[in-house]
Amino acid sequence: MRHRLIVPGAVAASLLLAIPASAAEPSPGAPGVGDPYYPDYGNGGYDVSHYDLRLKYQPENDKLEGTATLLTTATQDLSRFNLDFALDVSEVRVNGKKAEFATSGAHELEITPAKPLKKGERATVVVRYAGTPSKVKVNGFTSWHRTKDGGVAANEPEAAWWWFPSNDHPTDKASYDVSVAVPDGTQAISNGTLQSQRSTAGWTRYNWRSRAPQATYLALLAVGKFDITKSETDSGLPVINAYSKDLGENDGAARASVERTGEITEWLEGYFGKYPFEALGGVVPNTDTSYALETQTRPFYSPGFKNGANTSLVAHELAHQWYGDSVSVRQWKDIWINEGFASYAQWLWSEDQGEGTAQELADYTYASYPADDEFWQVKPGDPGAENQFHDAVYDRGAMALQALRNKIGDKDFFAILKGWPQERGGGDATVKEFIAYAEKVSGEKLGKLFDTWLFTPGKPATGPTGKSAK
Ligand code: ARG
Ligand code: ZN
Repeated sequence: MRHRLIVPGAVAASLLLAIPASAAEPSPGAPGVGDPYYPDYGNGGYDVSHYDLRLKYQPENDKLEGTATLLTTATQDLSRFNLDFALDVSEVRVNGKKAEFATSGAHELEITPAKPLKKGERATVVVRYAGTPSKVKVNGFTSWHRTKDGGVAANEPEAAWWWFPSNDHPTDKASYDVSVAVPDGTQAISNGTLQSQRSTAGWTRYNWRSRAPQATYLALLAVGKFDITKSETDSGLPVINAYSKDLGENDGAARASVERTGEITEWLEGYFGKYPFEALGGVVPNTDTSYALETQTRPFYSPGFKNGANTSLVAHELAHQWYGDSVSVRQWKDIWINEGFASYAQWLWSEDQGEGTAQELADYTYASYPADDEFWQVKPGDPGAENQFHDAVYDRGAMALQALRNKIGDKDFFAILKGWPQERGGGDATVKEFIAYAEKVSGEKLGKLFDTWLFTPGKPATGPTGKSAK
């Protein structure tokens, strides 16, 4: 009910002042963080600091079940809040007490705690669930890729919905413990380090830990029959790689690529600074996918290494560990701060391998797209949700960096490549913030250059060398 009060101004003001702030009713958290491309991804009203996932997966029938425990802190007085999730939930507890829950839309789980949460209050949220992730479609697709001997969660930006409830946006990063039981003889792979594994009553449980802040889409679960290789980098970090035993004739090329993870990471450290995480590796399951994903510490690779080794792809996914994983996008439209740099790292790798310099490849790429190609219509700095992974974000995105390098010179350019992850690692950032950082380091005005390369449709009149197009 609403009252209409007609009172003199001064009296009205004193009435307002008399209402203490705490009298405000707790309200529901927003169903999204307000990302312009994906308004209902992530949620408002709380932050997650840690995910503990204790799961069991049966490859025979693709059944995933278990319990997720989220350590959260309310960021407002909260009567209700959402998680993003697509599997079936059987019970939710908040601070030990049963909570009411309901589903809404394709991937929202609405939780009403028995008692509202106060701003700043920490809450332990336990969600018990089960499902057949390959059968659960959201907008017609699933990011769970079932294989002959298991399954893999890998996609961007939607991957978590099919295996754990989360605040599904890169702005809410957390640490992870992922414990998965699978039938003896099958392996479960996740991020970070393998703390232990133990077999009981026909099931082997793998306990993985990823300590550094990690975005939800970069959490990895791959189950299957794998050959696992273990080694150490010179600095003593564990390198754990996993190859499906079902890679067939691609097995050699997959290993000839991913076994070079330690070496390529150390080479990247020369450009980007110290590797930001506690472990590294790669996983190559026998999925029918064709993309790779920079899952944190342990990228996912599709099995189709049909042209022999692809170390350029490995360099791309490992570059993301700094650019994308350690420094995340603030909003999905900031995707250039991931893909532009990972693509540029491939040109640096090519140069190192004697297969063409970054300058040569930038010039070649610029020349290879005719001015009337729709390629030039996509703005890498704000490509639109439907073009988030368009070639323009990668290729024009990398050309933008070569143009920057030619404008400010190698010394400042490489200082920026190394300084940015140092300055922003563990958090998130925007394209605009990167531009401001580049201006600060170089002391140059760069607005026009970035406008041309990232935000203006059409082929720039001069190429990344600064010379005019022929
Ligand atoms: N970040 C990934 C990469 O560049 C791209 C993932 C694209 N996702 C997809 N479903 N095709 O390696
Ligand atoms: Zn990429």
